[in-house]
Amino acid sequence: MKPVPDTYRDSVVVITGATGFIGAHLAARLCDLGAQVHGMARSNPALAQRNYHAHTLDLGDYAAVKTAIKAIAPHYVFHLASYVMGAPDLQHMIPAFQANLASSVHVLTACAETVSGQKRVVLTGSLVEPPAGELETIPSSPYAAAKWASSSYARMFHALYGLPTNIARVFMVYGPAQRDESKLVPYVMRSLLAGQAPKITSGQRLIDWIYVSDVVEGFLAIAATPGIEGQSVDLGSGQVIATRDLVLKIAALLGGAVQPEFGALPDRPLEPLRTADIARSYQQTGWRPQVTLEQGLRAVIAYYRGVSK
Ligand SMILES: NC(=O)c1ccc[n+]([C@@H]2O[C@H](COP(=O)([O-])OP(=O)(O)OC[C@H]3O[C@@H](n4cnc5c(N)ncnc54)[C@H](OP(=O)(O)O)[C@@H]3O)[C@@H](O)[C@H]2O)c1
Repeated sequence: MKPVPDTYRDSVVVITGATGFIGAHLAARLCDLGAQVHGMARSNPALAQRNYHAHTLDLGDYAAVKTAIKAIAPHYVFHLASYVMGAPDLQHMIPAFQANLASSVHVLTACAETVSGQKRVVLTGSLVEPPAGELETIPSSPYAAAKWASSSYARMFHALYGLPTNIARVFMVYGPAQRDESKLVPYVMRSLLAGQAPKITSGQRLIDWIYVSDVVEGFLAIAATPGIEGQSVDLGSGQVIATRDLVLKIAALLGGAVQPEFGALPDRPLEPLRTADIARSYQQTGWRPQVTLEQGLRAVIAYYRGVSK
């Protein structure tokens, strides 16, 4: 893999959703690289790093977004803020639309209207989006529809207004300090460490899992690579594993004393089977994942063992 160039030292970077799971890892890495990091979220505690600047705002408020982006004049924008809820229920429609689509249109418009000489605006896509060419696929959830539309806007802003956008098409992420502990990996680990059987679906869904530090390096590689503006780049492992096998692997790594309850939850309809095209990602950016599933799971177990003491 190409080393991340010294691109980010002294650069001015905006991260929306900087307090979230992936955003916090990205913010810490960019602070270490010497960037001036401006993190945005609705609730935004200041970090200890002197080069982290907290901006408390709702990305649903276009005037606030425009004022902040204009004042910061970032070289790089990583837009991660999101309502991360992939369930199909109607109750998720409006929050998914506002936090995943309206927020993206606000960030893109503010960048196009106020900043000149911007180097890159990276939006966060998802495995729930179809790969290029699959136009008639039905989105599996309000989240999937909003993410897909948001990526279309990013391509349009590049094509019509010359905004240097990219879409990081991120697959299923796991790692330490996941903010929403109801997600599969933290939920299973927390349950097993507490001696309780986690309740799981049939476990048949095949998913491409990627460790959070690999995703962070992927974001950095995308924004630093010239000549790929307007493109989507897959950030996944390139391999799928059945949820059942993943959960059993975690249980085995934890000693296997408690067995998960498969079939206790219903499977979701329309769940897509997608695998990251990492050969293409490497060709586009020189990025490829470095952390194996076993190494990653061991790191997360060490984290949860530490925090449950
Ligand atoms: N985790 C995964 O497996 C995965 C997989 C594929 C793609 N992704 C994408 O990766 C990105 C980050 O995911 P994550 O798991 O790190 O999410 P997360 O932990 O839920 O964090 C979401 C972040 O967005 C902020 N946010 C939400 N609504 C906002 C609003 N209206 N205005 C300002 N900030 C807002 C949250 O802070 P406040 O609540 O304080 O505002 C928080 O900082 C998302 O775009 C997600 O769709 C994640």
